[in-house]
Amino acid sequence: MASNRGLAYMEPGRVEVQSIDFPKLALGNRKCDHGVILKIVSTNICGSDQHMVRGRTTAPRGLILGHEITGEVIEAGRDVEFIKTGDLVSVPFNIACGRCRNCKEGKTGICLNVNPARPGAAYGYVDMGGWVGGQAEYVMVPYADFNLLKFPDKAQAMEKIRDLTCLSDILPTGYHGAVTAGVGTGSIVYVAGAGPVGLACAAACHLLGAACVIVGDLNPERLAQARSFGCETVDVSRSASIAEQIDNIVGAPEVDCAVDCVGFEARGHGEDARKEVPAAVLNSLMGIARAGGAIGIPGLYVTEDPGALDERAKLGNLTIRIGLGWAKSHVFTTGQCPVMKYNRQLMQAILYGKIQVAKAVNVTVISLDQGPQGYKDFDKGAARKFVIDPHGSISKN
Ligand SMILES: NC(=O)c1ccc[n+]([C@@H]2O[C@H](COP(=O)([O-])OP(=O)(O)OC[C@H]3O[C@@H](n4cnc5c(N)ncnc54)[C@H](O)[C@@H]3O)[C@@H](O)[C@H]2O)c1
Ligand SMILES: [Zn+2]
Ligand SMILES: [Zn+2]
Repeated sequence: MASNRGLAYMEPGRVEVQSIDFPKLALGNRKCDHGVILKIVSTNICGSDQHMVRGRTTAPRGLILGHEITGEVIEAGRDVEFIKTGDLVSVPFNIACGRCRNCKEGKTGICLNVNPARPGAAYGYVDMGGWVGGQAEYVMVPYADFNLLKFPDKAQAMEKIRDLTCLSDILPTGYHGAVTAGVGTGSIVYVAGAGPVGLACAAACHLLGAACVIVGDLNPERLAQARSFGCETVDVSRSASIAEQIDNIVGAPEVDCAVDCVGFEARGHGEDARKEVPAAVLNSLMGIARAGGAIGIPGLYVTEDPGALDERAKLGNLTIRIGLGWAKSHVFTTGQCPVMKYNRQLMQAILYGKIQVAKAVNVTVISLDQGPQGYKDFDKGAARKFVIDPHGSISKN
């Protein structure tokens, strides 16, 4: 049998390369004749993985990480009709059956049939159904006809692979944050967080026609990265409030649209930037979004956080000033991004040169063996999106 290697979460702060089973068209007793085996071309490290690797979830030791997968089909199950061996495909990080009520409504982030514990599943993620992750050489993708996005031309796709690798998660996720915040032509937008999701969101805001995109963070290197493609920036650790800094940029202390690309590990603002204040971003966005505005919340919030500072936050209870959002008639959109809703259009935007997402997020290609170091550097706040190239297919290209 062919061999396989993948990145395993071992304990807080430690990820290791291991020999793992070659994937089968099954998950435990569940047959996956509707699935395919992929030889992975690129697989990215995500801020969502960091929550697990920092010990901020109940992820078990030995979990094989990785939900941002692009690859070539090397074997198709008996029930796969339209995807073929040899196809180069992007895998939405959400696993979806295509048959349940939510999938039929396009809500593929909360599929009802792929995770016995709760709606919604993903590869290599705690509480997400036990599907094996794809920071590996090979992975199994179930419901392949429904889940996979095939690239029209392999050679053309390999030329843009650094951009196309962002279609499995961060580009659709950032775009979803922008769309659900109401971003359109002429919008003034505030994006909280200059990690890869925030930067992809900012690039998506430009694609959607925003007039001014302001990105907030406390990491100077990441803020410089945001400025490198035309964003304005706010340093949330400064004593001037976010509203004051926005006022200095656009002449008013508010924005049309706001997006939370940070999530529950948020730092506070000003003096509080040294510590974690999990509701800081949500509360500040209600403060600066105009009355009648919308707030997109792709940033992740959890139901269990063993590393939380207080007992309430350990169960995901945060001190949110909902009265303010209510008074301003704000619309909130939470949850996993339903990647499939956007990935085809965004693929075309990439292939026709309308968005340079790899440049925006500073895609940096590494080998599988460099994966553990990639996790360390990303955790330190490197202004990079690490893309693992397990077979050397990108470096060879
Ligand atoms: N909804 C989804 O489908 C989905 C998909 C992918 C990622 N996510 C989530 O999106 C979030 C961002 O992902 P990422 O990969 O960019 O993570 P990341 O950890 O690299 O980036 C988060 C950034 O937020 C900054 N930050 C912390 N507190 C802040 C504050 N108060 N104001 C502004 N910035 C602040 C950090 O310095 C960091 O640069 C994570 O929570 C991740 O789990 C959600
Ligand atoms: Zn991700
Ligand atoms: Zn479903």
